[in-house]
Amino acid sequence: MPVTPVETFLQQAIGLDSASIGVEALQHLQNARLHSTGLDASDYAGFLHKSPEEQAQLIESVVVTETWFFRNHLSFDFIAEWLQQPSRRSQNLRLLSLPCATGEEAYSLVMTLLNQGFSPAQLSLDAVDISVQALRVAQQGSYRSSAFRGEPGRQAQQNFFHLVEQRTALNTEVLYQVKPAVQACIHWQQGNILDAHLFPHSALFDVIFCRNLLIYLTKKASAQAINNLMRWLKPTGLLCVGHAERSLVSQAGFVQVTRPGIFVCQHPHAAGNEAAVRTASKVPKLAVRSPLRPSPNLTAFQPNPAATAAVMPSEVEASLSAMQHLEQAQKLADQGALHVALQHCQAFLQQQPEIAEGHFLCALIYQARHDEPQAERYFQQTLYLQPNHEEALRHLMMLLQRQGRTAQATSLQQRLQRLRSLARQSP
Ligand SMILES: C[S@@+](CC[C@H](N)C(=O)[O-])C[C@H]1O[C@@H](n2cnc3c(N)ncnc32)[C@H](O)[C@@H]1O
Repeated sequence: MPVTPVETFLQQAIGLDSASIGVEALQHLQNARLHSTGLDASDYAGFLHKSPEEQAQLIESVVVTETWFFRNHLSFDFIAEWLQQPSRRSQNLRLLSLPCATGEEAYSLVMTLLNQGFSPAQLSLDAVDISVQALRVAQQGSYRSSAFRGEPGRQAQQNFFHLVEQRTALNTEVLYQVKPAVQACIHWQQGNILDAHLFPHSALFDVIFCRNLLIYLTKKASAQAINNLMRWLKPTGLLCVGHAERSLVSQAGFVQVTRPGIFVCQHPHAAGNEAAVRTASKVPKLAVRSPLRPSPNLTAFQPNPAATAAVMPSEVEASLSAMQHLEQAQKLADQGALHVALQHCQAFLQQQPEIAEGHFLCALIYQARHDEPQAERYFQQTLYLQPNHEEALRHLMMLLQRQGRTAQATSLQQRLQRLRSLARQSP
């Protein structure tokens, strides 16, 4: 239940679940708005209610627009492969990226399909986000090298970008500018996923990317958003979601394509899926629980190439139960076989995406592999599922401190202190 006017507004306007970003972060954000408007908390509520400009500012300050080119690139590869079927090869394709944030996902999809031989005339992609600031960046189409985090992104740099210099008062920066042929395939639009009338006159979509938004929404808003996605997607189309969002769409009847590492679903009304739709409402919701505590030495994983080599990948694919995958992941991580441990961990998360401990173990393994962006992502996911996960809070705080992100680290530290003093007070 929202407790402040700011929480209430954000919940009603964009469906935000305040637990997904944390009470401290929200408080910090509200203080920043009070500071910038010069109002005190009691006057701010009335001002927010009356001022569309302030509402827009508040939304801009709360949204998380973190994204990068070819994020989870296996899903792009899968969509490209699926669209290669003769019946689709000759079609004009309607694609949607919602939320598109600063545009990397939308551009990645168009680049993937152009690489596969689709012509620009065949592709029409609608890219939608609530954030006007993010859309401005997207439309501009110039990116720093940090927006490209993997090999597919680096390959795309050569084919679809040219270098431009951007001069500021302080320095000159070299940026990657998307070529006009790619930009021409995309139509940018500001919009809210909760708005059922977002696409009043347009045809349905063949492919929808809706990744890393549902995790921030309340149950009610998430159901509303999924209902809209269902109406906007062709019955023969595919929906791509974030890895932690699969259970949400499955519960609504979307049917997952079972391929490791991809998070793609078929429409509930696709031929053959009717049974899934009928049973969807009966799918039990997984309990959020913490079945295993990682052993204390998990924090001290050391890579051990010999141990990695000793384990065949086929062992990961064997039909182990979720718990067996988690136990294997833990054991192998202790031995330093980080690569295979990670595969087991991901196999566990495919079956049990709502168990915080699986995300936490993944985060620790990534951390041991010095992959901080992924480690951060999994720590965040752990905290989303279990906001009082002390070890995740502590690790994430230290990671942020190392990166010099002091304000965020301090906010986590305060959260930890509060947790500890609550624990001391409890009988
Ligand atoms: C983490 S980004 C996801 C970007 C991209 N899909 C990805 O997975 O990399 C989340 C985006 O959701 C947008 N957003 C938040 N609430 C929204 C809403 N109600 N409707 C549309 N977009 C929203 C934010 O502005 C932000 O850009």
